[in-house]
Amino acid sequence: MKTVTFLVILGLLCLSIDGMQYEHHLVLKSGVFDVYWTVNTSMIPNTVYFKYVAKTTGWAALGWSKTASGGQMIQYDIALGGVRNTNESYLKDYYSSTLGKPTYDDDVRQNLILTSATESGGFTTIEFNRETDTGDTGYDVPIQNGTKTWIMWGLNPKDATDANTFAKHTEKGYTSLPYNMFTGKQFSSTTAQPKTTSGSQATSVKIMLAFAAILLVQLGSVLMLH
Ligand SMILES: *[C@@H]1O[C@H](CO)[C@@H](O)[C@H](O)[C@H]1NC(C)=O
Ligand SMILES: *[C@@H]1O[C@H](CO)[C@@H](O)[C@H](O)[C@H]1NC(C)=O
Ligand SMILES: *[C@@H]1O[C@H](CO)[C@@H](O)[C@H](O)[C@H]1NC(C)=O
Repeated sequence: MKTVTFLVILGLLCLSIDGMQYEHHLVLKSGVFDVYWTVNTSMIPNTVYFKYVAKTTGWAALGWSKTASGGQMIQYDIALGGVRNTNESYLKDYYSSTLGKPTYDDDVRQNLILTSATESGGFTTIEFNRETDTGDTGYDVPIQNGTKTWIMWGLNPKDATDANTFAKHTEKGYTSLPYNMFTGKQFSSTTAQPKTTSGSQATSVKIMLAFAAILLVQLGSVLMLH
């Protein structure tokens, strides 16, 4: 019986590994850049939780904009971060008005709360949150319900050495169509909708672990019968 109890506890522990589930997921470039997010409208102020996974061990940046085309770096709100010197996590708040290096928001206008930055297998994973509307007009782009928002990304194999020192992206892109960040829906009736389920990798891992736990419990019972 002890074995079974142990295995059940192990299974339950597996199920509670890692917290955050993200409601929305977009593959911005397959195998290179994924973004996950949730807007929590129960929180006051409303808060957006982002996670992005980029194929780089240098800096990786996520941006969002209400610019009509989504391109040209016009009015992009940008989060740029990474892990440098193997253990130093960083994420800074930027804004760009035009093509070129984004401008670092003042020290007093850093609105991004970095909760995790990790590097593994050549990928950088960053999790952060921010108030949907910081009120920093001209420094931030609010995340709003019903407003068309394009999402963009960039990366470089080298890390930023400080908030103002980083090389130009070696890879980048932006969504051809805008999204409603609150609902995760694409603004288009003709093209495929993004995945809006909580089908993140974390969920799949948990389901797999749950199955593993059930199998182990069954194995445990079989072994005890003998
Ligand atoms: C949203 O925030 C509320 C209040 O902090 C919390 O209870 C709830 O679990 C959060 N919802 C999600 C989906 O994270
Ligand atoms: C990172 O690792 C180096 C070398 O092991 C150590 O000296 C430094 O304190 C660490 N820095 C952080 C932020 O943990
Ligand atoms: C977004 O706005 C629509 C239309 O006003 C509303 O029905 C919906 O509940 C809102 N969604 C969220 C997540 O706030």
